[in-house]
Amino acid sequence: MQESRRMSQTTKIPATLIPGDGIGPEIVESVVSVLDALGSPFEWDSQYAGMAAIARVGDPLPRETIQSIHHNKLALKGPLTTPTGGGYRSVNVQLRKEFELFANVRPALTLIPGGRFENVDITLIRENLDGFYAAFEHYMPIGDDPHAVAMCAGFNTRTGCHRIIRYAFEYAMQNGRKKVTLVHKANILKALTGIFLEAGKEIAKEYEGRIAFEERIVDACAMQLVLDPGRFDVIVTTNLFGDILSDLIAGLIGGLGLAPGGNIGKQAAIFEAVHGSAPDIAGKGIANPLALMLAAAMMLDHVGKTDLATRLRNAIRITTLEDGIRTPDLGGTAKTRELTQALISRIG
Ligand code: NAI
Ligand code: MG
Repeated sequence: MQESRRMSQTTKIPATLIPGDGIGPEIVESVVSVLDALGSPFEWDSQYAGMAAIARVGDPLPRETIQSIHHNKLALKGPLTTPTGGGYRSVNVQLRKEFELFANVRPALTLIPGGRFENVDITLIRENLDGFYAAFEHYMPIGDDPHAVAMCAGFNTRTGCHRIIRYAFEYAMQNGRKKVTLVHKANILKALTGIFLEAGKEIAKEYEGRIAFEERIVDACAMQLVLDPGRFDVIVTTNLFGDILSDLIAGLIGGLGLAPGGNIGKQAAIFEAVHGSAPDIAGKGIANPLALMLAAAMMLDHVGKTDLATRLRNAIRITTLEDGIRTPDLGGTAKTRELTQALISRIG
């Protein structure tokens, strides 16, 4: 009763907001105020994760944060710092596991021309749960060296391969795309990535005549992306290759400052920037909020608010291109707050 009254009073969509570490709080603040100017449909439930959560409750992924995402099934997340080597396991990986966010969707679209290429428009879809990231890692001792040998066993399942590849084809259908390129290394990792290629060939048959299909070996694909990105449309690949190639593609459109991503599963979706917490510039007020803002645009699309997503992307385009207001990573001199104000005035 109370719930239905609450629903009728507001059309807001509840969503978890994680400010994150390093530059996270600065860019999240910027994105939230630009969304507010746009008439944000989201009702934020702010929660902590990463170092910020360690400092507060001694746990990088507190129960409350998990419960909030379980409840809302939707989140916008600032970057989280992961200690290298020792320390705690990546919270990003834990979140993907907890909510079975099997698809990592990373669109790369040229926003600011004048880079090496003018019209890049590639969406990379990365398998987000398996491969080498399943990480059965261990050391074997020899003599008195406890770390004499390092081993890592990855796996891919037929079900997991089918699920992500089907997702890529459906994404292509829904977004007016023409071609899916499957990227693998089945000539060397014959089982681990051979199963992925096999699944791709099977599923491609179902879409014959609607979506074209091709396969590429990952090293050749990396070279072709750098020489001629125009030949790619939608790319689907395994976890580790997807991690590497999506940063490469971000480089083609001017760097990490413009690369958004969505982690999508049946139970929840978490949107974030591809970049990390940028400790080198944290607190300086010069972080570029646009990657996270473009992730918020993906989140608007995800909940069916495509009109708002389009207005947001247009404001970003006009502010950076026509007004020439950019943060230092994109060759400008604007501070995060100046860019934010400029975006708000273009939305209003
Ligand atoms: P990074 O992406 O944080 O930084 C790489 C370089 O790009 C730095 O020079 C940084 O200043 C610059 N940069 C990144 N985002 C920027 C922005 N919005 N505006 C302006 N410049 C920006 O990668 P790095 O240094 O390897 O990782 C730092 C931390 O972030 C690590 O703890 C890592 O584990 C974590 N990380 C977290 C991710 C996530 O939460 N999804 C993703 C990647 C890394
Ligand atoms: Mg990465």
